[in-house]
Amino acid sequence: MTYYPDPEVFISQERISERVAELGEEITKDYKNKLLNIIAISNGAVIFAADLIRKIRLPLHLDVVSAASYSGTESSREVELQTKLKLDISGRHVLIVDDILDTGRTISKVKEFVEKQNPADIRICMLLDKPSRRIIDLKSDYAGFDIPDKFVVGYGLDYNERYRNLPYIGLLPSELSSKV
Ligand code: IMP
Ligand code: MG
Repeated sequence: MTYYPDPEVFISQERISERVAELGEEITKDYKNKLLNIIAISNGAVIFAADLIRKIRLPLHLDVVSAASYSGTESSREVELQTKLKLDISGRHVLIVDDILDTGRTISKVKEFVEKQNPADIRICMLLDKPSRRIIDLKSDYAGFDIPDKFVVGYGLDYNERYRNLPYIGLLPSELSSKV
């Protein structure tokens, strides 16, 4: 069995929770009197989305789409989407929530899918942004933290499905990154 050491702290639990609260406040102001629909991208965004929506003081609807693109620390060109939205989002204000904006492929694919459902508008909220990795020219409307090109895990983010339940964001231990 592979040994998975505890990652070094990169963003602490306290900093995450402060920043999530700020994002929640900002979103609450911006969407006042609007019909807000959150679409979280699973699996990575489930923890962030769960914390974020409890900091948004507005009535909102929540739905989920699934996306997968990574194996180890490599982003594949093919993004697999599973999109059975349960709610009708036509005419509603959609906020797509994800864990990290890397090459931009996942979000652009999800955005394309959401556009086809005729929402009033679409915005993007990411916990993390790695601007230096971008391949598709995309910006998030709300971003928790800009980070350098390092592979991070925890708070929903995984390395081969491990570490999602880590309460902080950590750096992938070098003994694991050197194996890929
Ligand atoms: P993109 O499609 O290249 O923008 O990749 C976005 C997805 O790749 C994210 O939703 C994550 O699941 C995954 N990802 C990108 N960077 C990292 C990282 O540093 N750690 C863990 N997952 C990552
Ligand atoms: Mg993800």
